[in-house]
Amino acid sequence: MAEPKNHKNLLSTLGLMSILFSIPIVLSVILYRSDDFDPVPLPGGDYFYSLPSVAVPEHRDQILRDSERVGEGLLPGPEDLAYDAENGLVYTGCLDGWIRRVWLAGKDELKVEDWVHIGGRPLGLAFAPDRSLVVADAHKGLLRVKPDGNVELLTDEAEGLKFGLTDGVDVASDGLIYFTDASYKYSLEMHMMDILSGRPHGRLISFDPSTNRTVVLVRDLYFANGVALSPDQKSLIFCESVLRRCRRYYIHGEKKGTIDDFIENLPGFPDNIHNDGEGRYWIGLSAGRTLIMDTLFKYPILRKFVVSLEKFVAVPLNLKDSGVLSVSLEGQLLSLYSDPGLVLATSGLKIGKHLYYGSLHKSYISRIDLTRSGASSN
Ligand SMILES: *[C@@H]1O[C@H](CO)[C@@H](O)[C@H](O)[C@H]1NC(C)=O
Repeated sequence: MAEPKNHKNLLSTLGLMSILFSIPIVLSVILYRSDDFDPVPLPGGDYFYSLPSVAVPEHRDQILRDSERVGEGLLPGPEDLAYDAENGLVYTGCLDGWIRRVWLAGKDELKVEDWVHIGGRPLGLAFAPDRSLVVADAHKGLLRVKPDGNVELLTDEAEGLKFGLTDGVDVASDGLIYFTDASYKYSLEMHMMDILSGRPHGRLISFDPSTNRTVVLVRDLYFANGVALSPDQKSLIFCESVLRRCRRYYIHGEKKGTIDDFIENLPGFPDNIHNDGEGRYWIGLSAGRTLIMDTLFKYPILRKFVVSLEKFVAVPLNLKDSGVLSVSLEGQLLSLYSDPGLVLATSGLKIGKHLYYGSLHKSYISRIDLTRSGASSN
């Protein structure tokens, strides 16, 4: 009889499958003890996973529908964006080590050019007053590209500790460069380990091109990421992805060298941050907050288990709801542009009427027309 036989086949298939699936789990439990990955609770007790996220006054939660792709196929992993208003080009760092640029107007509108190959993995980008492009390269450190395309390494260590993941950067109007090393311990490829470790391996650092001095400003940061100078140049905002917050560091005045809260309990993990010159910061959210991530952050033992398991199978963390936030100069959340289907949007930059956003993995820059998509706001 066909039916019982099928039934038997199905049962043995299920049995085989469950054995196959349990091998990695058993192995990871065995290896668990010898593993030197030792995650710890985050600071602040239950704060980071029990409080609701800060309220969003304006939320457009379907931005993929309204997004246009710029340079599709030509811009692999355009992580951060920098705009040069003098030539009307937007620059981005790609995962193949190229800095590429795109014309945003004129007869070459949306044309993409391979500009300079710097060889590492460029992340944060910012223009210096002399129109050099300063690059935080995850692998190489802090680089400078002169307008003629000449590349030089500025610094790759501080206090005897090499950078592991140079990440965000901005340049003050006096030429001083402020940047982050997200982790001295883990590389970009291993960044999830850093995040799941719950340990602060990040630093906020300055580099003075007139003296070549590298100075650590703040230590023990939880995945130090984007940096943006305030318009008055008295302070800067820096993001700590793991703690879903950005803080203000004073660089001049009475409060010089001190830190204030800026915005906390974001609805996701902040990445690059940019000032638009019109009274807002734009912050890339690489992923929205999820129950899975909240639970992992709450229980270090689960993080250890996930990392052990990762050696055998890709553990789905169900990242979603990535997007871009806009925040006032005082740290009030103004708007969120996100989509459930979006992951690893890493930067947002408002240029004219468009919001451009970069990505760690997509092959294009995206943009939405802020005036038009307002009509489909919800
Ligand atoms: C800084 O370093 C560069 C490159 O090594 C060098 O050409 C320059 O003279 C140095 N400047 C100072 C002030 O030491």
